[in-house]
Amino acid sequence: MNIVVLGAGNLAWHLSEEFQKKGQNILQIYNRTEKKAEALSKILQCDFTSKLENINRNADLYILCISDKSIAEIANSLPIENNLVVHTSGAVHQDLIPQDRRGVFYPLQTFSKGKEIDFKGIPFCVEANHENDKKTLIKLAKTLSISVHEISSEQRKTLHLAAVFANNFSNYMYSISEEILSVDNISFDILKPLILETANKIIYHSPKESQTGPAIRDDQTSIDTHLNDLNNGNYYDIYKMLTEKLRAENKK
Ligand SMILES: NC(=O)c1ccc[n+]([C@@H]2O[C@H](COP(=O)([O-])OP(=O)(O)OC[C@H]3O[C@@H](n4cnc5c(N)ncnc54)[C@H](OP(=O)(O)O)[C@@H]3O)[C@@H](O)[C@H]2O)c1
Repeated sequence: MNIVVLGAGNLAWHLSEEFQKKGQNILQIYNRTEKKAEALSKILQCDFTSKLENINRNADLYILCISDKSIAEIANSLPIENNLVVHTSGAVHQDLIPQDRRGVFYPLQTFSKGKEIDFKGIPFCVEANHENDKKTLIKLAKTLSISVHEISSEQRKTLHLAAVFANNFSNYMYSISEEILSVDNISFDILKPLILETANKIIYHSPKESQTGPAIRDDQTSIDTHLNDLNNGNYYDIYKMLTEKLRAENKK
């Protein structure tokens, strides 16, 4: 398949390299900042441009790997009428793409440049305005992963909300832990086995069943000690609110 990738950020790097590994032909990289388009195109040995008017018009697929807020604007400015245009966002409705042949190719995973990732198990959420295009996107996703799902824009919105809790908020909790440990010169490394075991456990058990800790045990002494240590500082309110929520959940 001939593909033009728009964007040269975290996802564009990973996805375009993986497409290429799986035998797809990356025709061109477009990116607003030319240097970044050039850097990625060097790795892929393909053409690049920073000008939408110079976009290659012969691709089978135009895949927007650009910030959510710029998807509508860039799709509207794309000089493409009859080819398939998709975005890769968890949060943006398919219909923000004006082209009739539009769709979504959303990998439900976190990508950062320079951090290798195994695509095999990444859930790909696919949607398209036309049945044939959906089939094409499903086929393409199956070359990358064994986990491919037809998900509507409405379902994707719900999925994205759930993912913010599961991923972004839990990662923020790791940051808080790291900061708390640093006060006593303890390395965050010591918590990693605990974090990994917590994540592994929910593969076989529901998160609710797996919950442990002072709030669930109704261990008021530990809770008071922790709140006292936090001493109305930055994380006092978060600790108090989450403890109350967990206790209420436990009583249901
Ligand atoms: N990274 C992830 O974990 C992940 C996971 C799933 C889905 N996604 C989706 O993938 C898409 C890209 O995310 P990312 O994490 O790769 O973002 P990123 O690393 O922050 O890169 C953002 C890209 O968008 C371009 N851009 C920003 N504003 C623009 C504008 N006004 N006009 C044209 N281009 C613009 C940037 O171009 P410049 O280089 O010129 O700034 C850059 O290529 C998003 O829709 C996101 O929801 C990301």
